[in-house]
Formats: sequence, structure tokens, C-alpha cells
Amino acid sequence: MSTRSTKAILRVLNGEPVWPLPIWIMRQAGRYLPEYRETRKQAGSFLDLCYNPKLAEEVTLQPIRRFGFDASILFSDILVIPHALGQDVRFVENEGPKLEPITSDKDFSRLADELPLERLDPVFETLDRLSKSLPKETTLLGFCGAPWTVASYMIAGKGTPDQAPARITAYRDPVFMDALIDRLVRASTAYLIRQIDAGAEAVQIFESFGSALPPALFDRLSLNPIRRMVEGLKAARPDAKVIVFVRGGGANLHRFASAGIGDGLALDWTLDPALVLPTLPNTLATQGNLDPLALIAGGAPLEQGIDHILNAVRGRPHIFNLGHGILPETPVEHVAQMIARVRGA
Ligand code: CP3
Repeated sequence: MSTRSTKAILRVLNGEPVWPLPIWIMRQAGRYLPEYRETRKQAGSFLDLCYNPKLAEEVTLQPIRRFGFDASILFSDILVIPHALGQDVRFVENEGPKLEPITSDKDFSRLADELPLERLDPVFETLDRLSKSLPKETTLLGFCGAPWTVASYMIAGKGTPDQAPARITAYRDPVFMDALIDRLVRASTAYLIRQIDAGAEAVQIFESFGSALPPALFDRLSLNPIRRMVEGLKAARPDAKVIVFVRGGGANLHRFASAGIGDGLALDWTLDPALVLPTLPNTLATQGNLDPLALIAGGAPLEQGIDHILNAVRGRPHIFNLGHGILPETPVEHVAQMIARVRGA
């Protein structure tokens, strides 16, 4: 057996049930950890941290040292793609991302047609370092944003309620929207291929804004672009494993499953695994889906939330995770309690 397939997360992504469940959490390197806040101060800006391979490696390793998670996710951000394509991207303290909005053909024409991969060399160097420094049982995950989620930041220039600026653009100017989505599909596929070459063993595609899309737009802006990315990656690197996370995708989860898009599907916290999993093929890996607020609350809500997931997924290929990213105010002890309960099951 190769060393690859002995890693618990990769076994699950191959369709094998593993018990106790392997575990990692979305946004596991971040502000809930005092050691992250310390390194973040040294780095300067958030993007400086993303593009500093030594410090990015350090913050990626911090949650692994502390908790021994089964997967380590590259420290970077989904918005490095628009940045590398030539859009102005900044992260404003306590406000989140700010981009120079792309709203006209003229703005769009200033973006690079092909992703200049060398602009992301520091990210690939971070992966290369991690593939050497991680414990041998830990799976190294790369990631990127899905085209619709990234496009909605590119058009609005910031996070917006329900992604209204991008959604109205999709109706009013479909040619522009489709061109932007196509640009992101090609850039993100090239980026994921390069992440695999730099040492990532699996990648997660984050469609964080799936809930904003009505049925008339869902296939065009989310499902088909993600399908093209997964197919493009698999055509180039057949061994690469892919987890697809469509937050708020609801019943569309079944359509990703029946179309065979992704080796694993991540569930957000609104889906009940006890209802959903029996309707999915039992060789399809799933991931999730504790409510991040139950992790903040701790106590009985945390224990009941964990136990509900464990009971629903027993005997199936499942990776324990949250239903979205961990929030900065989460007590670190609650994370340790969650891991102990999952591993002690
Ligand atoms: O530990 C990890 O999961 C790896 C690193 C990671 C970050 N962002 C680091 C980060 C990952 C996988 C992301 C993905 C990401 N970034 C998503 C998709 C996942 C999701 O949460 O829905 C999105 C939508 C973004 C865009 C983004 N980046 C926002 C909206 C913000 C500001 C809000 C916030 O949480 O602060 C960021 C900044 C960001 N990305 C931080 C971190 C650790 C905090 C920045 C800081 O340290 O000041």
C-alpha cells in the first residue's frame, strides 16, 4: 500500500469508512488561536502573511501542533486569485476584504487572461514546505474559491448581503458574467493543478455563497463552473481528490452527487445528516457539519450536536468538520473537547 492511501482523510475520500472519524475544521488556522494572533502581528498585513511562506507554514502548522488534526489546510485566501489576475485586493482590519470593483468591460479587460502562476509562487512554496514538515499521517489540503463566490467579491468589491450586485449583473449582463466566470474557472483550475504539484493531496472548493443563487442561475454560475474545474483538475492530475463545499446549496447537493462532481461533499450546518446521508450513495464521502455556534456555546449543545452527527454517519465514509468556518470568538478548550469526543467515540 502506498503511504498516500494510509492517511485517514484520503481513505475516506476513496470511499472507505474510517472510525473514529478523521477530523479537521474549516478556518482552523485563525484568530481563535492566540499563537495565530501573535504571528499575524509579526507579518504586517493579512496578505503579507499569505505571501510569506515561512510564516504561512507556521500558522498552518499551529492547529496541527495543538490538536493533531487529520488534515492541514494551506494558509492562504480565496481572494489571492483576483489579486494575481491584477485586481486591487486589500484586507481592512475588522472590516474584511476590499477590492476595486470590476463592473465594466474596461475593468475586466485589465485582468490577466491566463493566471500568472508565478505571482502565486509563495503559496506553492508554502505547500512545498508543508509537505516536508507535516506529520506523516496528516493530509495536506489545498483550496480555492468557487467562481461564483469569488466573482461576487470581484463585482461588489466587498462582502454583500445575498450577493445582490453580482446577482443583478448575472441577469442584466450575462455575457459579462459568463466571461468573468469562465476566466475564474480557467484560473482556478490552473491554480489547483499547481497546488497538487506543490504537494497538496486533496483540495477543497469553497462555494461560500451558494445560498444566494435561485434555480435559474444555479447551474450556470455554480454547478457547471465547479464541474468544469473538477473535470479539468482530474484530467490533468487523475489522483487528485476534491471536496466540494456549497454552503446553502440545499437540495442541489444531490445533483452534485448524481453528476459525480467531487470525491467528497461537505454539508453546511443546516443539513441534517440523518436525513440526507441515506439518500446519497454509501461510497460517496461526506464532510461536516457541526454548527460553528454550537462549538462556541459548548456544554450540552456541543455534545448533542457532535453525537447527532456521529450517529448519522456511522459506517459511512465521513470526515468530521464544522458546517462552516470556526469563528474568532470560539473558546480553544471547546475545540479540544470536540476532538476528544469524536476520537473517543
Ligand atoms: O485555516 C484555514 O481554513 C485556511 C485559511 C483560509 C482563510 N480563508 C484564512 C483567512 C481559508 C480556507 C479561507 C477561505 C475564505 N476566505 C473563504 C471561504 C470559506 C468561508 O469562510 O466561507 C472566504 C469567503 C474568504 C474571504 C475572506 N477572507 C473574508 C470574508 C475574510 C474576512 C472575514 C474574516 O473571517 O476575517 C477573510 C480574511 C481571512 N482569511 C482571515 C483568515 C485567517 C482573517 C484575517 C486576519 O487574520 O485578520
